[in-house]
Amino acid sequence: MIKTIEWTAAGVRFIDQTRLPTEEVYVVCRTYQEVADAIRNMIVRGAPAIGVAAAMGIALGVDQSQARDVSALRNEMGQICRKIGETRPTAVNLFWAIRRMQQKFEAAAPEGVHQVKATLVAEAQVMLVEDIAANEAMGRFGATLMPSSGGVLTHCNAGALATCGYGTALGVIRAAVDAGKQIHVFADETRPFLQGARLTAWELMKDGISTTVIADNMAGAMMRQGKIKAVVVGADRIAANGDVANKIGTYSVAVLAKEHGIPFYVAAPWSTVDMNTPTGEQIPIEQRPHREVTHHGGKQMAPDGVKVENPAFDVTPSKYVTAIVTERGIAKAPYTSSLQELGEMAGVSN
Ligand code: MRU
Repeated sequence: MIKTIEWTAAGVRFIDQTRLPTEEVYVVCRTYQEVADAIRNMIVRGAPAIGVAAAMGIALGVDQSQARDVSALRNEMGQICRKIGETRPTAVNLFWAIRRMQQKFEAAAPEGVHQVKATLVAEAQVMLVEDIAANEAMGRFGATLMPSSGGVLTHCNAGALATCGYGTALGVIRAAVDAGKQIHVFADETRPFLQGARLTAWELMKDGISTTVIADNMAGAMMRQGKIKAVVVGADRIAANGDVANKIGTYSVAVLAKEHGIPFYVAAPWSTVDMNTPTGEQIPIEQRPHREVTHHGGKQMAPDGVKVENPAFDVTPSKYVTAIVTERGIAKAPYTSSLQELGEMAGVSN
């Protein structure tokens, strides 16, 4: 299994997702600042992976602190969380992870500095294990929604690389394939960062899952030709009404799917559901450097000085979403009540 993130004695280790698919290189971040940079520069990316990376960065920073008492350590913790919280604004998993680490800090605080450090280091590793378990549960639920055979379209990378292993949308596909379904994946290349072409294709091929890469502007034609039976994507934040923020281009795919009568599924762990954000309107959308659009592989693709927009995500209104698969179960419209019900499920952390 690909180890997207790993806690090691030397620091937090990531597979460098900016170098795939041509180079399989790992980087070790030795400080929390290096972890923050790895998140911002997309060495590690994908909402669930960002959440666990944030937790590991916090654990690393706290563990390396020279603070002698809890109050000084709390000040440093604030600084660390601020730095990590400034990296990427859309994936709510980042803020979920910071909150969870802050709660753990306070729970251990009465027992002193040593205990706080040990608690946070252990918690970050628990979150990694829980993430894989959540993906496997999503896979079990989501596989039932997949067609018994035919093309399934996905956008961006919501796989092992975007999580701690197995994946959300790709976890659903993996589980369906394991259950004997004859699925062929169509992977949108996902301009401008090419997560589909570079990452989804790479990890599915590693698993021997039949995959075709298409340019983003081919999806509609493929649907019209009857090549796509279902769409499954991940999410960076799901609002309380079921609106879904995901990689830019997801909205276009959802609208196309509706026009062609194709189900559009979203698979995401409960940590991606933000019940404090009422609708997609309030989800902050990260704007990334223009160079990601104007240049490719170091080569300039657009004239000097041209105006550029580069929103990393868009919002798909819930009316286009056939179902949301989580580790707690499947939510369907009306999402305000179905997500609320899943949220009230006891015995699941978050
Ligand atoms: O900018 P990225 O690569 O972090 O965006 C990733 C996505 O949009 C994924 O679809 C989403 O995080 C779900 S990952 C399981």
